[in-house]
Amino acid sequence: MPLLQGTVGVEDLVLLEPLVEESLLKNLQLRYENEEIYTYIGNVVISVNPYQQLPIYGPEFIAKYQDYTFYELKPHIYALANVAYQSLKDQDQDQCILITGESGAGKTEASKLVMSYVAAVCGKKEQVNSVKEQLLQSNPVLEAFGNAKTIRNNNSSRFGKYMDIEFDFKGSPLGGVITNYLLEKSRVVKQLKGERNFHIFYHLLAGADAQLLKALKLEQDTSGYAYLNWDVSRVDGVDDASNFRAVQSAMTVIGFSEEEIRQVLEVTALVLKLGNVELVDEFQANGIPASGIRDGRGVREIGEMVGLNSKDLERALCSRTMETAKEKVVTALNVIQAQYARDALAKNIYGRLFTWIVNRINESIKVGTGEKTKVMGVLDIYGFEILEDNSFEQFVINYCNEKLQQVFIEMTLKEEQEEYKREGIPWTKVDYFDNSIICNLIEHNQQGILAMLDEECLRPGVVSDSTFLAKLNQLFSKHGHYESKVTQNAQHQYDHTMGLSCFRICHYAGKVTYNVTSFIDKNNDLLFRDLSQAMWKAQHPLLRSLFPEGNPKQASLKRPPTAGAQFKSSVAILMKNLYSKNPNYIRCIKPNEHQQRGHFSSELVAIQARYLGLLENVRVRRAGYAYRQGYGPFLERYRLLSRSTWPHWNGGDREGIEKVLEELSVSSEELAFGKTKIFIRNPKTLFCLEEQRRLRLQQLATLIQKSYRGWRCRTHYQQMRKSQILISSWFRGNMQKKCYGKMKASALLIQAFVRGWKARKNYRKYFRSGAALILANFIYKSIAQKFLLGLKNNLPSTNVLDDQWPVAPYKCFSTANRELQKLFYQWKCKKFRDQLSPKQVEILREKLCASELFKGKKASYPQSVPIPFHGDYIGLQGNPKLQKLKGGEEGPVLVAETVKKINRGNGKSSPRILLLTKGHVILTDIKKSQDKTVIGLDSLAGVSVTSLEDGLFSLHLSEMSSLGSKGDFLLVSEHVVELLTRMYRAVLDATQRQLPVTVTEKFSVRFKESSVAVKVIQAPGGGGNSKLSCKKKGSHLEVTVQ
Ligand SMILES: Nc1ncnc2c1ncn2[C@@H]1O[C@H](COP(=O)(O)OP(=O)(O)OP(=O)(O)O)[C@@H](O)[C@H]1O
Ligand SMILES: [Mg+2]
Repeated sequence: MPLLQGTVGVEDLVLLEPLVEESLLKNLQLRYENEEIYTYIGNVVISVNPYQQLPIYGPEFIAKYQDYTFYELKPHIYALANVAYQSLKDQDQDQCILITGESGAGKTEASKLVMSYVAAVCGKKEQVNSVKEQLLQSNPVLEAFGNAKTIRNNNSSRFGKYMDIEFDFKGSPLGGVITNYLLEKSRVVKQLKGERNFHIFYHLLAGADAQLLKALKLEQDTSGYAYLNWDVSRVDGVDDASNFRAVQSAMTVIGFSEEEIRQVLEVTALVLKLGNVELVDEFQANGIPASGIRDGRGVREIGEMVGLNSKDLERALCSRTMETAKEKVVTALNVIQAQYARDALAKNIYGRLFTWIVNRINESIKVGTGEKTKVMGVLDIYGFEILEDNSFEQFVINYCNEKLQQVFIEMTLKEEQEEYKREGIPWTKVDYFDNSIICNLIEHNQQGILAMLDEECLRPGVVSDSTFLAKLNQLFSKHGHYESKVTQNAQHQYDHTMGLSCFRICHYAGKVTYNVTSFIDKNNDLLFRDLSQAMWKAQHPLLRSLFPEGNPKQASLKRPPTAGAQFKSSVAILMKNLYSKNPNYIRCIKPNEHQQRGHFSSELVAIQARYLGLLENVRVRRAGYAYRQGYGPFLERYRLLSRSTWPHWNGGDREGIEKVLEELSVSSEELAFGKTKIFIRNPKTLFCLEEQRRLRLQQLATLIQKSYRGWRCRTHYQQMRKSQILISSWFRGNMQKKCYGKMKASALLIQAFVRGWKARKNYRKYFRSGAALILANFIYKSIAQKFLLGLKNNLPSTNVLDDQWPVAPYKCFSTANRELQKLFYQWKCKKFRDQLSPKQVEILREKLCASELFKGKKASYPQSVPIPFHGDYIGLQGNPKLQKLKGGEEGPVLVAETVKKINRGNGKSSPRILLLTKGHVILTDIKKSQDKTVIGLDSLAGVSVTSLEDGLFSLHLSEMSSLGSKGDFLLVSEHVVELLTRMYRAVLDATQRQLPVTVTEKFSVRFKESSVAVKVIQAPGGGGNSKLSCKKKGSHLEVTVQ
C-alpha cells in the first residue's frame, strides 16, 4: 500500500487501495500499532480505543487544532470538534456529533474530549466559565448514577445520552439540555458475575462519613446489601471514596442545594435498603399463599427515613389492589410476586431518580427563553450489540442503532449530493444498502415488531411472550429480514442456533437472534399502583415527587405508555433532532475484549467495522470522486510541482491548479473542477501527486539547506569581518590614544622641565641654588692652584737620575700628578741633553749602543757602564811605532788595546795588539809588528761573545773575504764591551749593516777548512778575575772562566 508522505498507512480511508475489508483492517491495525488511533473517512473520525493515555491531548494540542484546518494535521477528535464548532460559529449551522461504538469502545471518552475542546476554545468570560463548568461537571454526576463496571468496561455508561450545548451568536456557551435514554434499570437489582451495580452505591458507602452513614442508616460494608454484587466491590483504577466527594462537589457546582443532595442520597440509600427487605412465604386463612416481611426492621428504617408508615409499605409490597370503575379488590401476593414487586419498586425508584437528576441538571443549565441560540448536540449512545442471549434491551438498542445508521447513510449521501450540487458537478447515483426496510420492520406503526409487542401487552386475555412470538411469525413469515424457527421450518431450513423462543433480525450490521422471554414484562414496565401510591404517601419531598401517579386525585386508569413505545418516540424525537443538524461522526472501535493496550484483534475489529458500516461509508464517500480539496489548500500543497506556480503564483487558485495538473499531464477524466474545490476521481492519482511532491520536497529541502548554509556562512563571515574591523579600529584607536597619551605626557614633562629650567635659570640669580656649584668650582680651583703652586715651590731636584716626585694630595689629581711627573722628567732629560757637548753625546750614544747590545745579556756589562770608553789602551797617541801599525789608514783609531789571541789548534793564547779603525780591524803581534792581520769591516760576518764576565769573543769572517781561509779569530779582550760596541758602530757606519752580535756559551769557530766547537763554562766558585783556561780536545775547545 503506497503511503502518503509522513503518515502511517493512510490517514483517510477514502484513499485506501484496494478498497477491501482486509486492507481496511490492516490500515487500522498498522496505525493503531503506531499509536495513531484516529483515522478519517472523509469527515468521519474512526477512533480505536488505545487503552492508554497518549500524549495527544491537552491545551497545546487544542491550540494547535484550533489554528489548522481539518486535513492539515493528523486525524483527531479535536479536528472534528473544531470543524463542528467553527461551522456552528461561522456558518450559523447547528451541529451534532454522533458517537457510536460498542461498549468500551471509547464513546464517553470521545464525548468528553469534544466537550473539553469546545470548552477550551469558546469564550472565556466569567459567566461563560460558570456555564462551561456546569456543563462539564454534569459528566461526573451522570457517570456516578448512570455508569457501572461491566465485564467489558470498568466505566460503562448504562444509559444513552444526548446533550445539546447551546451557544450565543458569538459562540459562547449559554447552557444546554441533556436527554437520557433507557437506563439499564435491571442492574439495580441484579448484576452479572464480575459486574457491579451503579457506581453511586459504592461511592456512597465508601465515601460517606460516619455521620452521613448513620443518618442514612447504612453500613459501610458492601457485603451487607443484597443488591450489591459483593464479589466485585472494588474496581481497579476507581477510587470510590474520592469519587463520592467529586460527585458531591460537582452537584454543588451544577446548582444542587445541600438539601437536594441529601435527598438524592436518601433515595439512593432507600433503594439499597429495599434490597434487604426479605420476603417470606405466608398463607392466608383460606390457604392461599401470601407473603410477609421477615424482619420488620428494614421496612421500619425505610419508613423512618422517608417519612412513611412502615405498615403501608409492607402492605404495598405484599398485596395488590385491583381497581375497576366499580370496585376495589385486594389480593395477596405470593413471595415471588412480592419479590418482583419489591425489585420493580427499587428499579423504578432508581430509574426515576436518575431521570429526576437529569431534569434537575437541565434546570440548572437551561437557557433562558428568548435568547437566540445555536446548538451543538453530542450523542453518546450504546452501539450495536450482539450478545449470546439478546433480550428486549438489545432489541431496542439495536433498533436505535439501525435508526442512526439510517441517519448516517441518508445524511452522508445527502451531504455528498449537496456537495456535488454546490460545486456544480454532475452527480452519479450510488447504490447503497438502504436499511429503512429493517427500521420499518421494527417501528412500523401498525405492523412493526414494537407495535405488535404493545398490542400484545394491551390485549386482554392470556398474554405471554410466546403469543407475541407467534404473532410475529405470522406477520413476518415472508419478510426478508425476519427469521424464526417457524419461518425456517416453513422453508425447510435447519438451524440449531435458533431457539424455539427466538426470532432473528438481519440488521444492517449482521444477524441478531433475540429471545422473546420477558419481552412483555419489560415492555410493560409496570409498577403496581399500590407501590406508587405508597411512595407518594411518603413525607420525603423528592421520593414523593418521583411518583406523581401515586396521587389518588391524579390517578387515571389509563395505562402509561410501554417502554417500547416510549423508546420509539424518544428515538423519533432524537432522529428529528439529528436531521435538523449538520452531522459529524465519531466511530469508536474496541481493539480487543480485554481492555488491553497495544493488542489489536482483527476479528473483533472486523465485526465492528461491519456494524459501523465503515466500508460502506468509504464507498459512499468515494462514489464519484475519492478526494476533494478546496482550491486554496490544494494549490498550496502541490504548487511546488510546477515551475509556473513555484515559487510565486499571482493568478487565481483554480488557474494555478490547472497549470500544475496540466504540466504533470494528469488526465482530465481524473479531475473535476467544482466552484470552490477540486475533485480527484482515483486515489492513485493523489498518491502519484504525493510521490512527486515528496521527491520535489527533497530537492527543495536541499536547495533550502544549500541557501541556508550559504547564508549562514556569509552572515557569519560578515559578522566576523565587522567584528574584526571593529576590534582593529578599537585597537588602533586605543593604541593611538595610548601613544598620544604618552606623547602628551612626555611633551608636558619636557615642557615642564624646560619651563622649570628656564624659570630656574631666570631665578637662579635671585637664589643661592647656584652657590654650591660656584663654591665647588672655586674650591676645586683653589685646591688645584694650591697643589700646583705647592708643586712649583717644592719641585724635586733636576738630576735626571733622581726620580722622586711628591704624591698627589687628592686622589682626583693623581692622573694629573702622573702626567706632571712624566712632563717634569722629560723636561729634566731635555735640559740635561741640551747641556751635553757633542763629545758627551757621542760617548752616551756609544754607551746606549752598548746597552742595546749587552744589557741583561752579558755579566760584565754592568761594570762597563760607569767606565767611559777610552779607546786607546796602549798609548797609541804618543807612540809613533804603534802609530805605524795603523798603516795608511785615514781617520782615528777607534780602539787600540792588547788582546789575547787563542790558538785554535792548541788552545794556547798569545798577546796581540788590536786596532779598530773606521774600515778595519788590525791584529798585530806585539813582537813582530810586521806580522799583522788586517780584517776589513765588510769581511766581518758576526761576533760571538759569552754571557759571562770573561772577555772572550770570536770574530767570524765571511767566507768571501780574503782572510776567509784563515778562519775565525778567537780573542780575549779586557774591554770586550767597548770593543764590540765600537766595532758594531764602525760596521754600521762603514757598511750600513748591523753586525750580528751573538751572546752564547757555545759557538763554533772555523779553523783550517773545519771548525772548532767552543764551549765556555763558568768554573765553579769563579771569582771575577776572568781568567780563562782553554783545553783543546779534538775539534772541541773548552774554555773555562775562572
Ligand atoms: N482516547 C482514549 N484515551 C485513553 N483511554 C481511553 C480513550 N478512550 C477510551 N479509553 C479507555 O477505555 C475505557 C472505556 O471507554 P468509554 O467508557 O468511553 O467507553 P464507552 O464506549 O463509553 O463504553 P460504554 O458503552 O460501556 O459506556 C475508558 O475508561 C478508558 O480507560
Ligand atoms: Mg460510555
